[in-house]
Amino acid sequence: MTDHLASVTAAFEAAYGHSPTGIWSAPGRVNLIGEHTDYNNGYVLPFAIDRRTWAAVGVREDRTVRLRSTFADEEIVASLDALSPDTMDGWSAYVLGVAWAMADSGIDLSGATGLDILIDSDVPVGAGLSSSAALECAVGKAFDELWGLGLDKLALARIGRVAENKAVGAPTGLLDQAASMLGEEDHVVFLDCDTEDARPVALHLREEGLQILVMNSNVEHEHATGGYGDRFASCANGATALGVTTLREIGQADLARAEEVLDEETYRRVRHVVTENQRVLDTVDTLGKAGPRAIGELMGASQASMRDDFEITVPEIDLASEAAVAAGAIGARMTGGGFGGSSIALVPADKTDAVAAAVTTALADAGLREPTIFTVTPSQGARRDI
Ligand code: GLA
Repeated sequence: MTDHLASVTAAFEAAYGHSPTGIWSAPGRVNLIGEHTDYNNGYVLPFAIDRRTWAAVGVREDRTVRLRSTFADEEIVASLDALSPDTMDGWSAYVLGVAWAMADSGIDLSGATGLDILIDSDVPVGAGLSSSAALECAVGKAFDELWGLGLDKLALARIGRVAENKAVGAPTGLLDQAASMLGEEDHVVFLDCDTEDARPVALHLREEGLQILVMNSNVEHEHATGGYGDRFASCANGATALGVTTLREIGQADLARAEEVLDEETYRRVRHVVTENQRVLDTVDTLGKAGPRAIGELMGASQASMRDDFEITVPEIDLASEAAVAAGAIGARMTGGGFGGSSIALVPADKTDAVAAAVTTALADAGLREPTIFTVTPSQGARRDI
């Protein structure tokens, strides 16, 4: 057992006075490219990161769920017979919401036992790295095994999304949970959100001497309210006006007609989604043919589209991306839902420190918030640890 798993076990035992049945974990994610395409049934290309959320879980003999964490000094107690999105709030909604979403999806939980749960995490919250999906997927994996449900990874990802949409109330797509469930070392996950077909695509970062830097703007985002929902609504309105069910059904050849039919702002929102879908396909193609050193321009075009057409970046993100490229990054772009959160830079390993320093200096010189910068490695998705 690693030192960390031993400390999570000890925290569980201190909280509940008995040993956990097991520890399950799931990672946060970085999306390499393909932003706000998932809920438009388009394409995404995320990877799971080496920052995880752990759920130590012990089986009870009743139908009570007790929930504690290493980051909040509270115990939440709920009954499996009385789960409802109306009674869940705060971070516990991501845990209890998964059990509720399983039942809402038609899974019979009448034989499920109560559980004692202790959560620990090193995925930063509010950084656009899907700490919420990491939590949903870690407990989803534990529930599946402890309750003998036999759900596959994609089914558990869908359950996590239902929890996020209905229990938490954010109209998000499948990106985060799919990455957290399906991630593999040194691979991105190419997901078609229409067919829900997913396949790993090799990144070859180590062989190419590359690293991925996360530049957390420390501007906190919130997806259950605000801009994210507005963009979701713009896309839905654009699709309706164009006579399609989702924007997945239109391609670059349809943009001229879209410009005639739509108001100027809705047109730019639609153009982002349509061109971003194409950039995901082009990135997959380029990775296969020419490797990761050749995707910098696609990353840059995605960043510009998010900044100018979809308008979901903030000044910290724009400047960090520009400064990273100026200091030698191959490409840089915002990752995640936007309105804060993080950008990423694809960087030759020998320039990592110089790029990080240049970004920090550029933000300080502009009087903007100081970023938190660290590397991430594409890692394995949700699993049982012990
Ligand atoms: C958030 C959502 C995802 C996706 C991204 C934007 O991370 O949870 O479903 O929409 O934003 O690509």
